[in-house]
Amino acid sequence: MRTIAIKQFGGPEVLEAMELPKPLVGNDEILIRLHAAGVNPVDFKIRQGLLATRLPHAFPLILGWDGAGEIEAMGAKVTGFSLGDAVYTYGRKATIQAGTYAQYITLQQEHLALKPKNLSFVEAAVVPLAALTAYQALFESLQIRSGETLLIPGGAGGVGSYALQLAVNSGARVFSTASPAKQKTLLDWGAEAVWDYHDKNYLEAMHQAVPGGFDAVFDTVGGDTQIALSKLLKPQGRLTSILTLQDKVQENTEIQTGYVFVRPDSEQLKKIATLIEEKKLRLPPVTTLPLSEAAEAHRLLEAGEVHGKLALEIPTL
Ligand SMILES: NC(=O)c1ccc[n+]([C@@H]2O[C@H](COP(=O)([O-])OP(=O)(O)OC[C@H]3O[C@@H](n4cnc5c(N)ncnc54)[C@H](OP(=O)(O)O)[C@@H]3O)[C@@H](O)[C@H]2O)c1
Repeated sequence: MRTIAIKQFGGPEVLEAMELPKPLVGNDEILIRLHAAGVNPVDFKIRQGLLATRLPHAFPLILGWDGAGEIEAMGAKVTGFSLGDAVYTYGRKATIQAGTYAQYITLQQEHLALKPKNLSFVEAAVVPLAALTAYQALFESLQIRSGETLLIPGGAGGVGSYALQLAVNSGARVFSTASPAKQKTLLDWGAEAVWDYHDKNYLEAMHQAVPGGFDAVFDTVGGDTQIALSKLLKPQGRLTSILTLQDKVQENTEIQTGYVFVRPDSEQLKKIATLIEEKKLRLPPVTTLPLSEAAEAHRLLEAGEVHGKLALEIPTL
């Protein structure tokens, strides 16, 4: 099968078109013929070797954790799916090796759900990782409640886009940051206010908006931004990050902190599909490139030049 894979860590140039064997299906596995792969920042972090101390890797390594396609075969122990089902997946496995930048992938059923009926395969492929991350951060870690004030920096990013809408749906009062051209969409999705993080006074403006302090922060940016936003919380406010928790934030006994590393969850993918079908969760803009241009996709994402999400279209045989 056709894949885009790496034989070593490095820059976008290590991404190579490789013919690799089509995977065999285990008893508890599902073989998906992929039509599209979603591209996420974690893909270029894996390519750079940044997860090498955290999870086992094996080469040649097919990148990609997000995808959408059709079920072509199933092991005898699989229940709840049928041949030909259109599915979408967050396909992170214990070892990083067989990803979604490929014509086929085998996965266990916890990794997938039926794709939202109103989305194309390309659109469905950019949902799972980012939307599951938002879901787990908001409802498992922060346990956000109706009426609470919530700050989400990077509301136009992949994770931020879904988080902002999920939080608005749950009744939270959501405040966000984004580059000027992207702010209107976030207001249309129900954000109460959106600030430009390039403006040197934006932190003061946020403080003025909720002077008593925010109930919660969902940090999708990390670093100094995480430290600055932690200071805008009310006493005993909650901060959950999907980036490394900074020492200054963890040491602050005035607030509660959490970290989320997104895990596959079929039930949550089903809930997300329903929200999309009911038009309660909308997609950010989606840019599509052919699988063969995966290196260009990585360059664009690393340079921060993608508005919304990026997908790779996978050729049929
Ligand atoms: N732990 C986990 O499980 C997990 C899961 C998913 C993602 N992540 C990580 O979370 C981060 C975000 O992921 P993503 O998929 O949402 O990335 P993304 O789609 O590339 O979006 C990043 C967003 O960050 C915004 N941004 C950049 N610098 C900023 C700053 N100083 N202040 C405020 N916003 C800023 C950008 O805003 P503008 O476009 O408006 O300029 C952009 O929209 C990545 O590092 C990713 O690896 C972790």
